Amino acid sequence: MKRIALFGGSGLTGQEFLKLALQHGYPVSALARTPAKIPQTSPNLQVVPGDVLNAEDVSSIVRGADIVVSLFGQVKNSPKDVQTRGTAHIVAAMQQHGVRRIISLSGGGLPYAEDQPQLADRLIRGIMRLAVPHVLTDAQSHADVLRASGLDWEIVRGPRLTTEVARKQYRVGWVGVNASTSIGRADLADFILKQVESDEFVGKMPFVSR
Ligand SMILES: NC(=O)c1ccc[n+]([C@@H]2O[C@H](COP(=O)([O-])OP(=O)(O)OC[C@H]3O[C@@H](n4cnc5c(N)ncnc54)[C@H](OP(=O)(O)O)[C@@H]3O)[C@@H](O)[C@H]2O)c1
Repeated sequence: MKRIALFGGSGLTGQEFLKLALQHGYPVSALARTPAKIPQTSPNLQVVPGDVLNAEDVSSIVRGADIVVSLFGQVKNSPKDVQTRGTAHIVAAMQQHGVRRIISLSGGGLPYAEDQPQLADRLIRGIMRLAVPHVLTDAQSHADVLRASGLDWEIVRGPRLTTEVARKQYRVGWVGVNASTSIGRADLADFILKQVESDEFVGKMPFVSR
């Protein structure tokens, strides 16, 4: 089984992902600022205390991994460029340790060539540009870091994330194409886990919605 280096495992999506990854038997090394926020215990789980903004912490869990799953993002009091800086550390560690595949999580505010944004999508992007411009800028810059990395990157994008139980049914498309305006984090985690064994979306930014 591929060893997964996980960032953001203490978050709402990260918790759903970690539960599924362990159920499927994947060994996981998770970096967490507050390890107690990861309640799971398993012989397959190693929780390492650390911060994604610290290059040495990042390197310590990327070393020995086969793939990186990056689900961290802006939280209260984050620096405005946390995703960009953290992703730059992850990319540097992957290059140093010869790890090629990374799946990163972002939102529909991040544009991609295949998108055909509808009125609702334009409105949401417009509101985000006004209300949280740094979130969009950070998402875009983190994507630029991945694009320039030469790694096998994939950015999974979601609309509004909810806590609904897994429906086990969701759409995979682009913004405005085969898409809706929300996704449960459990279903999003299911899609992300499937990406661990799939190269279908390498270099792409699929949009997952209910
Ligand atoms: N919310 C939405 O509706 C929405 C929509 C589309 C896309 N997204 C994307 O999906 C991501 C995940 O969403 P979510 O709701 O699952 O997020 P969440 O519950 O807020 O989790 C964020 C995670 O990032 C971690 N983190 C933040 N700064 C860190 C740092 N410096 N070092 C290490 N870890 C750090 C947090 O760790 P701590 O526990 O230590 O704080 C937490 O595990 C978002 O960040 C965003 O990029 C969100």
